[in-house]
Amino acid sequence: MNGEANRSRDKVIAITGASKGIGAELARQLAARGAKLVLAARNEKELEGVAAACRTAGASVVVVRADVALERDCQAIVAGAVTAFGRLDVLVNNAGATMWARFEDIRDLSILERIMQVNYMGAVYCTSHALPYLRESRGLVVGISSLAGKTGVPTRTGYSASKHAMTGFFDSLRIELEDAGVGVTMIYPGFVATGIRENATGPDGKPIQVSPVKEGEVMSVEDCARRIVTAMERREREVVMTARGKIGLFLKLFAPAVIDRMAKRAIEEGR
Ligand SMILES: NC(=O)c1ccc[n+]([C@@H]2O[C@H](COP(=O)([O-])OP(=O)(O)OC[C@H]3O[C@@H](n4cnc5c(N)ncnc54)[C@H](OP(=O)(O)O)[C@@H]3O)[C@@H](O)[C@H]2O)c1
Repeated sequence: MNGEANRSRDKVIAITGASKGIGAELARQLAARGAKLVLAARNEKELEGVAAACRTAGASVVVVRADVALERDCQAIVAGAVTAFGRLDVLVNNAGATMWARFEDIRDLSILERIMQVNYMGAVYCTSHALPYLRESRGLVVGISSLAGKTGVPTRTGYSASKHAMTGFFDSLRIELEDAGVGVTMIYPGFVATGIRENATGPDGKPIQVSPVKEGEVMSVEDCARRIVTAMERREREVVMTARGKIGLFLKLFAPAVIDRMAKRAIEEGR
């Protein structure tokens, strides 16, 4: 990877939401770089498939079936790392769920509660149980947020709120942990071609099933995972992934209505 030293070799890295999408690809790329992996998600069969590919690449892998909305399952992820490998160097809080519905069309507000519980509290639970071990290893916590964690996005009220919550939590924690030598890296991807939107919760509480996004025109999952690996190895503070995201955040400082229009257009055009 870009000629730099491989800083993932022999690191014990726990990834939530590793059964598919960005988490699964991150696992495969880290396996190829010699990391020791703890892979967590709810779907054990899919997790075993990802684990098998990682083992073929030579990695030691432990699989933990976990729903990150439950604190005891998050505790089990960390316990899985410590039991198998005796330490934990990096926790990647990647598990996430999204929605695609205007707020006024939603009748059942538990949709928003569930998204907050998975995206935000899941990261809080995992981080809390991981911290004693990350202090020992002077390790790293990674939060996979979204551009919707930096700015509002129509059809994404509850999702955007959960990702903004992650930002507030991890930006505060970064300051608290500085003296302990534990790093915090925040990742803000734009659209990435995974199955997340087929599973996005619609206004009726059911998955919308067909992605409204032109999946062939957005960032590939391989490219996204490569950028995350680089950011982890460099212990970067944060990565805003797309040029549109970077320009939008700059404009937000003095012309916030412009980024509102950019977000509206992105949703309407699906890219
Ligand atoms: N794709 C994008 O365009 C995009 C853009 C910005 C940010 N992101 C963020 O990137 C992260 C990964 O998204 P993705 O696109 O890879 O989505 P994905 O393909 O749908 O994968 C989501 C992963 O999270 C896991 N997960 C969902 N709910 C969970 C729960 N309650 N407990 C444990 N694991 C759970 C899923 O596994 P199980 O179903 O097996 O539990 C799966 O492994 C998310 O945080 C998402 O918000 C994605």
